[in-house]
Amino acid sequence: MTLRLAVMLHLFSLVVLAAGGIGGMLMHRPLVQAVRSGSPLLPGLASAAMRLAIAARIGSILMLLSGLNLGYVMHWVDFRFPWMNAKLTIYALMWVLSLGLAAPAAAKLGPALARRQQGEDTTAVLESSLSRLGLFHALILVGFVAIVVLVIGGTR
Ligand code: HEM
Repeated sequence: MTLRLAVMLHLFSLVVLAAGGIGGMLMHRPLVQAVRSGSPLLPGLASAAMRLAIAARIGSILMLLSGLNLGYVMHWVDFRFPWMNAKLTIYALMWVLSLGLAAPAAAKLGPALARRQQGEDTTAVLESSLSRLGLFHALILVGFVAIVVLVIGGTR
């Protein structure tokens, strides 16, 4: 595979990751407002947010695969640099946050929404899940910006 194609695959993966991640981030405020106002749009918004989260996960997996492919095409030359190790550490931390913070919070949303539709007041569960997801989005954004800064500023 040519270097140009390998870079394109990595950047295409970045587009998928960014689309899901930024989309999910933008969905957060409408979701919180829908919970507080009791909007009938809430289930639809939550389902759209879940789909965006899946897109972000797929993008993140593609980042890893295309990054390994790019490393192979470049004879692993960048993997000797500290900035690449820092980037991979942040990438791994993003997965820790995704599985440790976002996934448990998201898993509570569906059942809480279902119970709410049956008349139960699940506002507290929904609010706490959404606030955890808000924290997750903020931390991921910091990590994402840090990775891009490392890639741009990394010495070669
Ligand atoms: C959220 C995760 C990631 C982001 C945002 C990201 C972003 C980027 C960007 C913007 C580039 C520059 C592409 C170019 O040269 O035009 C790049 C290069 C690269 N990435 Fe990633 N990447 C991520 C994860 C990974 C992972 C997990 C690996 C490896 C396992 C990896 C390996 C590489 C390599 C080898 C390069 C080439 C470096 C160079 O241009 O000298 N990346 N990455």
